[in-house]
Amino acid sequence: MQTHRLATLDDVSTLQALMSFTIDRLQCPFLDELTIRASRGIMGLGTWLISDATYFVVEQRGHLVGCGGWSRRATLFGGDRIGSRDDSLLDPLRDPARFRAMYTHPDFVRHGIGRLILRLSEAAAMAEGFAHGELAATLAGVPLYRACG
Ligand SMILES: CC(C)(COP(=O)(O)OP(=O)(O)OC[C@H]1O[C@@H](n2cnc3c(N)ncnc32)[C@H](O)[C@@H]1OP(=O)(O)O)[C@@H](O)C(=O)NCCC(=O)NCCS
Repeated sequence: MQTHRLATLDDVSTLQALMSFTIDRLQCPFLDELTIRASRGIMGLGTWLISDATYFVVEQRGHLVGCGGWSRRATLFGGDRIGSRDDSLLDPLRDPARFRAMYTHPDFVRHGIGRLILRLSEAAAMAEGFAHGELAATLAGVPLYRACG
């Protein structure tokens, strides 16, 4: 059975391992090896998403199989390592919420986990008054975001 919940700081090392494995495995059909290696410097976990309680995990039989979330802060993409982070709060009446850092374990893709997390994120952002969303996607993310409109 699949369950979901907000991520906690105790999940950080498991999330980092899941992201690293997923970046290597699922980007292959979309990007060459050099670009995948370069993307490691940009992609990954922004731990402030967890502190903000805007980051979800999906579990199956106690194992973390997917993650992703949204943000009420200006940074559009990127993990803790990127230097150009902007923590300023968005204005829900004026700005689009950000959708962030979606990863599904390769053994669990195409089971609706990405779609579920997007739905949870949209609902949470709307509950805070946001009417629009924005994201920057890797090529590997494009099919999911297209399918979800
Ligand atoms: C992008 C990602 C999160 C999608 O996760 P997922 O749990 O497999 O997505 P879902 O099962 O909810 O897919 C929903 C729909 O999106 C589309 N889709 C998702 N992945 C697809 C793929 N590789 N090829 C074609 N369509 C795809 C399909 O329409 C799918 O519906 P269907 O399976 O009923 O046809 C996952 O592939 C991933 O982790 N990729 C690597 C990391 C990454 O690049 N993340 C995006 C950061 S911007």
